Amino acid sequence: MNRQEFLTKFGISMAAVCAGCGIASCGSSPKDDPTPSDNDNNNPPNGSLLSADLNSELKSTGDFKVASGIIIVRLATGNTADAFTAVQVACTHQGTAVNYNNAQGKFICPNHGSQFSTTGAVLLGPATTALKKYTVTVNGNTLNVTA
Ligand code: FES
Repeated sequence: MNRQEFLTKFGISMAAVCAGCGIASCGSSPKDDPTPSDNDNNNPPNGSLLSADLNSELKSTGDFKVASGIIIVRLATGNTADAFTAVQVACTHQGTAVNYNNAQGKFICPNHGSQFSTTGAVLLGPATTALKKYTVTVNGNTLNVTA
């Protein structure tokens, strides 16, 4: 093999390698690697703190607030911790945001109908895992939720 043949052969080989790199790069776009956002309800952040001003929020039984992947519901009158519940809003089946049904006193997923108690326990599938329950504390008119 002379030099010309070697370079030609090497050049073809490099082109083939570079083409392989190009294909690999094309397969990886920013869409393939999403960055979690504050609106990502599938992963409620551990240790997060969520507050509510009870002078203006959650005033009536059945009122609820959704933020940071958590749903807080007023279950009873009075500004004490046991008058509220806070659970992850994302259904443990496929992540759809659950709703609170005040008449039935439970969380219901609008996607496939899973139902959860006010403590997050599964009442009806297809979900098989409980909703994460958060700790609620009330100090005066300020409600705090901690992981
Ligand atoms: S996503 Fe909730 S029941 Fe399927």
